[in-house]
Amino acid sequence: MCGITGYVGDSDALPIVSSTLANLEYRGYDSAGVALGNSELEIYKAEGKIGELTLPDSSTARSGIGHTRWSTHGPPTDENAHPHTDCTGEIAVVHNGIIENHAELRAELGAEHTFTSDTDTEVVPHLIEEHWDGEDLLDAVSAVVDRLAGSFAIAVLVEGRNEIVAARQDSPLVIGHGDGETFLASDVPAFVEHSRDVTFLEDGDVARIEPDGVEIYHDGERIERERTAVEWEAEAAEKGGYEHFMLKEIHEQPRALRQALTGRVDALSGDVDLDLGLPEEYLQSLEEIQIVAAGTSYHAGLYAEQLLEELADVRVTTHVASEYDVGGGRDPWQTLVVAITQSGETADTLEALRSAKASGARTLAVTNTVGSTVTREADETVYIHAGPEIGVAATKTFVSQVATATMLAVALGRTRGALSRDEASAVLDSLRGLPGAIQQVLDREAEIEAIAQEYADREAFFFLGRRLGHPVALEGALKLKEISYDHAEGFAAGELKHGPLALVTDDVLVLSVLTQGSNPEATLHNVAEVDTRGAATVGFGEAKGDGSVLDHSFSVPEAGLLEPVVANVYMQLFAYHVARSKGRAIDKPRNLAKSVTVQ
Ligand code: AGP
Repeated sequence: MCGITGYVGDSDALPIVSSTLANLEYRGYDSAGVALGNSELEIYKAEGKIGELTLPDSSTARSGIGHTRWSTHGPPTDENAHPHTDCTGEIAVVHNGIIENHAELRAELGAEHTFTSDTDTEVVPHLIEEHWDGEDLLDAVSAVVDRLAGSFAIAVLVEGRNEIVAARQDSPLVIGHGDGETFLASDVPAFVEHSRDVTFLEDGDVARIEPDGVEIYHDGERIERERTAVEWEAEAAEKGGYEHFMLKEIHEQPRALRQALTGRVDALSGDVDLDLGLPEEYLQSLEEIQIVAAGTSYHAGLYAEQLLEELADVRVTTHVASEYDVGGGRDPWQTLVVAITQSGETADTLEALRSAKASGARTLAVTNTVGSTVTREADETVYIHAGPEIGVAATKTFVSQVATATMLAVALGRTRGALSRDEASAVLDSLRGLPGAIQQVLDREAEIEAIAQEYADREAFFFLGRRLGHPVALEGALKLKEISYDHAEGFAAGELKHGPLALVTDDVLVLSVLTQGSNPEATLHNVAEVDTRGAATVGFGEAKGDGSVLDHSFSVPEAGLLEPVVANVYMQLFAYHVARSKGRAIDKPRNLAKSVTVQ
């Protein structure tokens, strides 16, 4: 998973390619590079971030391609940075994905071609060189694409030509249409300040991108793809005065939630309109829901599982996408498989969805990303409408996923006769109150920052929760570990005494979810167990019992079944301020990238 950009038009390509590339750094940032199309190609590439790349102040190029890398094949070195070129240095290629048959292709190209990197990508420019006759670049690239196995989004630039040829297979690519200029990128935020009129390429597409337009071919035939207007403004993908995207996105949660709820919820009648597109009879006779997801989306799935079982009276299992197997003893037609994915591009989740489809199950995507692969592959899609999330750590999309799952659970509960109108209204009331409840937590940021500073140097951090508090504990730990690099683990509070308690010392901080919906009284007993062993303790919410076992306690505003997700906001702020106090690269933590398009 890497970021690709491209530009053809009338302006200097250099600042456009480098700035659009910087907007994609959330996709990978261990090396970067740019190729500028001139009478001779100019290539600049190096290990490190795009901002560390030595580039001229300006150029005369009117076309260019760029790449920001998250290494898969070959370590992050200058040589392995993209673009890669053929033997003549006339053909430059940037690539996102994995070319699975690269070893075989490299062997076939043989000693006549000189390779300068360890990457799988480098076979592509050399293969193009074999097919290139100086006439039609799209023909040459199409011939090469037919030879590639695996996933790829590639962009090809040849010296002396004012065009880019791009191809997509299982890796996203989007084209931005401008006035006499055209943009290419892995994701819309790259160029949204220049164009909001976009075309998403689909698997198997090969496109010729020129200043005045785009030709798209599929199976050798010229086709037209729909143009979509991007709804959000360019500012949505900027920091807006915050030090980090993550902090901005934490603070955007009330607004993101309002967007998710707009036009969908009628608390008075207890009705939800998600425009689901699945027949009522099917939903009524549904026997099982399987949720597939990764990382934070998996935690949202665990939360959704409990809500769906309680509100819609349906059996639900949640699966780490990379471990998913449809399983025996089921009627696939009566099984709905729900893929939760912010990006809509996570390879593990897409693979799980494909195997579910192949088994005959119906599929539903819950995603944030319009035009993403999951929306094309799932039978139905529900958007979470959180707006662009740039920080690698997912924050606002977690709460928006949970809110969307709540709406889904209420809609299903009503359709299946499991939920009365009054019960549905009560849940929807909590949902409508969620933005306000989260705002109250955000207003206490200074207090949680003080706690973060006091305990930042602890040896380890454990997060405890029961019931709906359990996925929140897992999410709290994931957030802290990914941005602070500290040892953090989330546990079902009752499991602590079955092993993890051995890890508890007086150099540990234990944070627990003590809200409604998380059996707080029982969890408080577990807090007492760690307090006895000298750990420092922080609680979010109020439990009846001996509060003296808590060193610090933060109240959580009333939010019914959604209270644990409100507590999660404290944990997000805690993780952020621990990481900040340690000077971590919060928006681009080491070794990670925003969307993981490899398995
Ligand atoms: C969350 O902070 C992570 N960056 C990561 O776990 C993420 O949630 C996971 O990779 C799934 O991504 P998706 O929602 O785009 O599918």
